[in-house]
Formats: sequence, C-alpha cells, structure tokens
Amino acid sequence: MSVRRLADDNVQPQSFAFNEANSAWAAETIKKYPAGRQQSAVIPLLMRAQEQDGWVTRAAIEKIADMLEMPYIRVLEVATFYTQFQIKPVGTRAHVQVCGTTPCMLRGAEDLIAVCKKKIHHDPLHTNESGTLSWEEVECQGACVNAPMVVIFKDTYEDLTPTQLEYIIDRFEAGKGGDVTPGPQIDRVHSAPAGGPVTLTTDTPAHRFADRAETPAPAAAPAPVAAAPAPAPAAPVAPAAKAEAKPSLDDPNRPAAVEKPATLDDLKMISGVGPVMEAKLNDLGIYTFAQIAKWTEREIAWVDGYLAFRGRILRDDWIKQADALARGGEEEYVRVFGKKPR
Ligand code: FES
Repeated sequence: MSVRRLADDNVQPQSFAFNEANSAWAAETIKKYPAGRQQSAVIPLLMRAQEQDGWVTRAAIEKIADMLEMPYIRVLEVATFYTQFQIKPVGTRAHVQVCGTTPCMLRGAEDLIAVCKKKIHHDPLHTNESGTLSWEEVECQGACVNAPMVVIFKDTYEDLTPTQLEYIIDRFEAGKGGDVTPGPQIDRVHSAPAGGPVTLTTDTPAHRFADRAETPAPAAAPAPVAAAPAPAPAAPVAPAAKAEAKPSLDDPNRPAAVEKPATLDDLKMISGVGPVMEAKLNDLGIYTFAQIAKWTEREIAWVDGYLAFRGRILRDDWIKQADALARGGEEEYVRVFGKKPR
C-alpha cells in the first residue's frame, strides 16, 4: 500500500465549512458523546466532510480539530490511517479501491489492478483525464471469502473477474453505477459457498435441536403436549430446496461432445475459466474454442445449469472470447478485446 499523504498545497482549498444541514448534523452528533469525549466524533465528522466535498482537505481536518478541541496532528493521524478517507481529490463518479491483500491477490487482484491501470490511470490516486474515475490499492476489506473484490464509495463488489470489473467501471463512468448490484458478482448468497449451500441443507426441528439434547423440548410449556402433532419427519427437502434441477446428460440441449483431439485448446485463455472449469468442460467432451464459440442459447443454459456456473458464461462473454480465439488466437483476441487473454 502506498504512503498516504495529504494532497499538494496547490489543490488544497483555503478554508472549509460544513454547509447548513451538515453543521446542524455535526452539532447533534457531537452531543451524543459524554462530556470530555467529544473527540470520539472525529470519524463521523471526517466522513461527513468527505461526503460534502468529495475528499478530505487539510482545511477540513483543521476545522474538525477545532470543533472537537483536538490537536491538528491527532485528526491528521486518523484521516491518513483509514483508507476510507480520501485525502486527495478522487474521481467524481467512482474511486475504485482494489483489495491487494493475500487472499484477493491469490484470487486475481493483480488482474483487477491491471484493469484499473488500463481504464483509469497508470498510477493510483490519479484521476482519468475527465476527472471522473480514480483508483488505489487498499488492504483487506473484510470480504476475503469472496475474493477478489473492490470497494467503490460505500459498496463492495466481490467475486470479480477482470471482465466484470471493466463492466462495472464503464457503468460508473456512464453515471449508471446504480445499475450494478453490489456484493458477489456470481450467484452466491452473501458469503455462502459458490453454487449453493453444501451443508446444513435441511432445516427441520430435528436437525435444529439434535445437538442440544440437554435443552428441554421447546413444546414443553403449555397445554396437551402429547396431543401436539409430532414434527414432520426429516423429509428429503434438501435437493428440492436448491434452485433448479440439474439438467441431465441426455438432455437434447447438451452441446455435442467430440473425441479428445490430439492437441487441446487452452480453454483457460477464456477469462472466467480456471483449471477446475476446464477439467469439467473436458469431461463433457468440450476441448476447443470452436466448440464453445458455436454454443446456442439453449446449450449455454444447459452448460450453465449442469456445471452450476450460475450465469458466468454470459457474464464473462465466453462465446465472444472463444470466437476470437478460434478465429485468430491471441492476436485476434487482442484485436477484439484490446488486451491479451489470460
Ligand atoms: S483479502 Fe481482500 S477482502 Fe480480505
């Protein structure tokens, strides 16, 4: 992570003042803390100053220090420590904070940083030409299980591929960042396993209380307990509870398999395909870019459902990638996408 220093003097405004609404809010916020502890309001006040002006200026730091009767250096320490505070002007439409800590790094953060360098600016904390976008690398943002991820303002975007980040940046650049739903960008519920739960997939009273033998039965309280209907036996609800049935291998929409060719295409060149997915595709008799490039909508849906890719094929545009690779290899891919394949 880079050293965090205040912006140069030539971009620092001479003064800072909260607007009328924020002044009233700040006065109320300071009052929430006990006498002598007003300086505890430093973080909310800094955040409000940032939301008002887009970044935290030196004048804002000094003004807040005066309001809370703190030495300037104490407020400066807070503002420079937490990366949630932008101490230099950042993009007006998006400031992309890419987590570069180990779990995210192992899962592709460097590729995300390469996207930021390409689409925004080579260097962190520099805006693009129009001043709408900027980026920086930050430390762990607490969403490691869904690595790699970025933070844009107060939202996180997780389970990212470079293609998805490019899409997200484009939406923000177009002033349509609200179109992108924050959180996991694959079909994962919060931080549950990708592809759906694999444990605790039933939720019957028997399961809930099985490990609490010493706990009195919940129905022990009032009336004719004996007459109460016994809980339904642990019906095999788990598979039914899962989203959709897996399509069968005999389904007519399954893409045609081919004999394993002497030379296999490296399907991992398609962004979004890793070694595990490549092996699964090979198991289905899919070995070449040309095969994938020809998939119909129904075939895409079959592969998506059978391998629980959850929309990944369309999101990462496998068909267009495979088509470029099949037609002209890496050179054609670079021509179409403006970057090398993975
Ligand atoms: S390592 Fe990236 S969110 Fe924790």
